[in-house]
Amino acid sequence: MSPARCGTFATSTNASVRGKPSIDELIDIVNFAPDTRQEVSSEMDCPFDRAAEDLGNIVELEHVNVTVPDQQLATLFYVVGLGLTRDPYLMTSISNMWVNIGRSQFHLPTSKPQVVRGHVGIVVPDREALLMRLTRLRKRLDGTSFDFKEHDSFVETTCPWGNRIRCHAPSERFNPITLGIAYVEFDVPLGAAEGISRFYRRVMAAPADVAQDSAGSYAHVQVGIGQHLIFRETDRALPPYDGHHVQVYVADFSGPHRLLQEKGLVFEESDQHQYRFRDIVDPETGAVLFTIEHEVRSMKHPLYMRPLVNRNPAQSNMNYMPGHDAWV
Ligand SMILES: [Fe+2]
Repeated sequence: MSPARCGTFATSTNASVRGKPSIDELIDIVNFAPDTRQEVSSEMDCPFDRAAEDLGNIVELEHVNVTVPDQQLATLFYVVGLGLTRDPYLMTSISNMWVNIGRSQFHLPTSKPQVVRGHVGIVVPDREALLMRLTRLRKRLDGTSFDFKEHDSFVETTCPWGNRIRCHAPSERFNPITLGIAYVEFDVPLGAAEGISRFYRRVMAAPADVAQDSAGSYAHVQVGIGQHLIFRETDRALPPYDGHHVQVYVADFSGPHRLLQEKGLVFEESDQHQYRFRDIVDPETGAVLFTIEHEVRSMKHPLYMRPLVNRNPAQSNMNYMPGHDAWV
């Protein structure tokens, strides 16, 4: 991509080279009056890729919500195993648990288990420490769906009810995230990727395209700084949708709402700052391509940019390091 042009202004020196300037000319110079400036560098090459800084309308993927039937087992997996942090301020009873991961969260209300049709990609530091924690969980989570498997570039974990969470180490690929939810990858029917990409571009005003790799075609949507939704085509049969959801913040809140409303897709007007839709449709045909509930919040939502506590899971009472309680 060619660098963008950078325009700038320079102060004219004409007023000071004709001998002693008048008082009015001095005032003009001091005040940078328009007639003392001229645009001189509209053709100047910019050494930076300005487009690389662009963010679409979806500015953050904050949480993934799956209900769980047992908070003790959920604590073992998400907090003890993955090394994440229970939100100390909100949802502190046994009917729900919010689990912080960097600037994102898992929301885990108590109910029958929900399972994402795909997997969640997270970034967590220290792969060896992660493997040690997971290994210690084997016995305590025996008899559940819990599992983990090492791959070259990630550790694939499975929660006690079958949710797959792919744990990546921080790397150039996931910059600037060093702890957080980097992506959610959904399995979608063959032929759905193009229409899904159109939906996010035209309705949600999010950058989206379709790409191919060795596993086939997928739609790719930018949903935050270093965050993505991926919709990967598969010929495998998909389980029925069970109601789990993702939550995003958008800059233009009313624009997508108007388009979704025209299509009859908004199913909940939650409050002033939030609405929900669940069907992704092809904007050209209206065909429903995939179902995943989106909790859409404006950037004026009181929870936007709420500071989240993240602990250092290496701390213990047996090997305590003063000053190292927080993850940094
Ligand atoms: Fe939610």
